[in-house]
Amino acid sequence: MRIDILSVVPELLTSPLGESILARAQKAGLVEIVVHNIRDFATDRHRRVDDYPFGGEPGMVLMPEPVARALDSLLAARTYDEVIYTSPDGVRHDQHEANRLSLLGNIIILCGHYKGLDQRIRDTYITREISIGDYVLTGGELAAAVIVDSVVRLLPGAIGDEASALTDSFQDDLLAPPIYTRPAEWRGLGVPEVLLGGNPVLIRDWQQEQALERTARLRPDLLDK
Ligand code: ADE
Repeated sequence: MRIDILSVVPELLTSPLGESILARAQKAGLVEIVVHNIRDFATDRHRRVDDYPFGGEPGMVLMPEPVARALDSLLAARTYDEVIYTSPDGVRHDQHEANRLSLLGNIIILCGHYKGLDQRIRDTYITREISIGDYVLTGGELAAAVIVDSVVRLLPGAIGDEASALTDSFQDDLLAPPIYTRPAEWRGLGVPEVLLGGNPVLIRDWQQEQALERTARLRPDLLDK
């Protein structure tokens, strides 16, 4: 998989993409993540990428030409399955969307900026707008990092224990069951007996029961799906 990210503040992505599982997945060749600075595609000597909105509102808007030039250079080099724009207007990101994106070959993520992006770029290039929640961030970089993290960890081999991504919360629209590690008794608190018994069928039944109970209690909306 290849993910190209377009940003005016690429430094914001350095640490989220450069550590832990995401760094290992790139080193192992499971994913190639390339971050591009939109400023490199500016046409004037001040490398200007934003301008005031028509209509006199406050805030700055990403200008169409530098963004179009950045997108054109990528689209000329290879085919992309999705050109994503991170925006609070988009469809809400969730595990189903992460699963879907993890099966694609090449994707572009264009990070939003301050007031937004010239509408003509959205109309011309963007195939999907994704929001990570009903709140407004200063830019789309953190949203892009969230989306990329949720996708890359699903790539086969990205997580040490391959089964663990499948037992995540939300993977089957259920929250995860409670989990424990050693010691079996800690500060007077024990561990459910069934987990110590070693019977995989009983353990799976208990986990399923707990997942259902937790979901019904904490996120009943998930069961309506
Ligand atoms: N950019 C600003 N706010 C955002 C959000 N909630 N989701 C995605 N991109 C954003």
